[in-house]
Amino acid sequence: MTTAPHNKTGNRAMPATGETLLEVNNLQKYFPIRGGLLSRVVANVKAVNDVSFKVGRGEVVGLVGESGSGKTTAGRSILRLIEPSGGQVLFNGTDITKLGKSQMRDYRREMQIIFQDPFASLNPRMTVADIIGEALQIHNLYPGKDRVDRISQLLERVGLRPEHMRRYPHEFSGGQRQRIGIARALAVDPSFVVADEPVSALDVSIQAQVVNLIQDLQEELGLTMLFIAHDLAVVEYICDRVIVMYLGRVMEIATSRELYTNPKHPYTEALLSAAPIPDPAIKRKRIILEGDIPSPINPPSGCVFRTRCRYAIPDCANIVPELREVSPGHFKACIRDDVL
Ligand SMILES: Nc1ncnc2c1ncn2[C@@H]1O[C@H](COP(=O)(O)OP(=O)(O)OP(=O)(O)O)[C@@H](O)[C@H]1O
Ligand code: SF4
Ligand SMILES: [Mg+2]
Repeated sequence: MTTAPHNKTGNRAMPATGETLLEVNNLQKYFPIRGGLLSRVVANVKAVNDVSFKVGRGEVVGLVGESGSGKTTAGRSILRLIEPSGGQVLFNGTDITKLGKSQMRDYRREMQIIFQDPFASLNPRMTVADIIGEALQIHNLYPGKDRVDRISQLLERVGLRPEHMRRYPHEFSGGQRQRIGIARALAVDPSFVVADEPVSALDVSIQAQVVNLIQDLQEELGLTMLFIAHDLAVVEYICDRVIVMYLGRVMEIATSRELYTNPKHPYTEALLSAAPIPDPAIKRKRIILEGDIPSPINPPSGCVFRTRCRYAIPDCANIVPELREVSPGHFKACIRDDVL
């Protein structure tokens, strides 16, 4: 990013209200691979495997990890845009994975998503008014003339003009399209939003503007967010806490500040060592992660990170490290406490 996004709140250690809005327990998503004449399941892509965490009301939690670590799959499974294979997703105390279609309706309004690619996620044959109004229609919100007023107000709030509602997606730049995507997500007044790498498809020169817009809206509306990102600098600015994922599993969870200054998991240490540091007071040795992320069809036994971990010992092949609290609010899934 060329311009660092502003950070008005700093990193809050705990959820703003201390009240849990989302609780994910042992979430699992396997994609079956079929083969042979009878199209039997011959293997599974273990995209998300035993993932657990909580998000407080009003809190912004980052989800980071290399490509293929399962971030999008986790985000979409939580919203039930894809069906989880196992585990619980408690929203305000209700396990939404057990709800039928009609019971799920109210929760769909409460839980929205901003997609990564604003080119692919907006239907090119729909006007902006139809794109933003679609969910309002489904949930029967702002009927009649109020609908147009609502769409105008949303467009203005995301930095576009009311007359833009009559245009089609191809008439807008990438940044403007993502603003439309943001307006669509917020149209139905959700309380929880998954932002799946909302700026990574955009020009670097406009990423900061869109991040700032999301941050302003989050604060203004008191939104709870799961903010998926590659860019650790963005995560540090916008998130209260960060979850680090690798090969479908959670490696570490801590407040942003703690994670950046005192990482406790070897994978986090390696990820951070590769990221540019704006603060010259912090010095880091660059750790090169050798090789690619292994296949989630056949992940390594024991600790899934062991094939690339510079601290691996024989036990790491036998023990699946549990996510344990190493200091208040700081969790890691690694059997060694003597290295970091
Ligand atoms: N529909 C699918 N069928 C089979 N495998 C899938 C499917 N969707 C995702 N996967 C696999 O699941 C794993 C996790 O993918 P996912 O897209 O969740 O990762 P990610 O962390 O979001 O990566 P990126 O940073 O590239 O967006 C990958 O190995 C991916 O190939
Ligand atoms: S459990 Fe072993 S392989 Fe895994 S991160 Fe810790 S030291 Fe590395
Ligand atoms: Mg993704």
